[in-house]
Amino acid sequence: MDDRSRFGGARYVAFEGVEGAGKSTIARRVADFLEELGERVVLVREPGGTEVGERIRDILLTTGHEVAPRAEAALFAASRAQLIAETVSPAIAEGVWVLSDRTAYSSLAYQAGGRGLDIGEVFALNDIALAGVWPDVVVLLRVEPRVGLERQSGGDRIGNEETAFHEKVAAAFDDLAASEPDRFIVVDASAPVDDVVRAVLAELGIVR
Ligand code: TYD
Repeated sequence: MDDRSRFGGARYVAFEGVEGAGKSTIARRVADFLEELGERVVLVREPGGTEVGERIRDILLTTGHEVAPRAEAALFAASRAQLIAETVSPAIAEGVWVLSDRTAYSSLAYQAGGRGLDIGEVFALNDIALAGVWPDVVVLLRVEPRVGLERQSGGDRIGNEETAFHEKVAAAFDDLAASEPDRFIVVDASAPVDDVVRAVLAELGIVR
């Protein structure tokens, strides 16, 4: 591990991006690589990752009911609060890597950027839910929304939104990355998976 890299010491890493960007695949591959190096790793997903969170996930992602934007934001934040309390904070305290398939940055992109809620309010809501525990690093896997949506098999309630919604989400992720360059690693996720994994490992200082 190269602790001199710009992310030396980072342990809580978020994987973010639009639908079909490959977050789960890349997070899994990075976790495998770290485990092969003898590191302890916890891989989580949002919404969900805990029993309570998975029940909230069901409400959020099944179709057949309307969820008001503020209720949607609050439910994502509630699922996240449970995950932070149960899993993320204890793991960080033990020096374990936490790789998260989505985090509060998805709420900033989807509920603020996509749904149009005020970004300051979504930030504040999540800061409370997270008890201030934001990821050290956000890996933004960048792909054109159309390409990502084509990679998807069947969408959930939010994945099924029209392309214009996903374009707003993608633009919001780009804005977030531009406004926090010290926290973001931006990777072209239309490249082959091996190349994406290598780029992420290099940026994190795990390989040279
Ligand atoms: P996810 O299970 O990661 O789906 P996918 O792998 O298809 O991207 O996320 C489920 C959906 O929930 C996805 O459409 C993004 C959305 N979402 C939000 O709108 N806000 C959030 O805070 C999170 C975590 C996810």
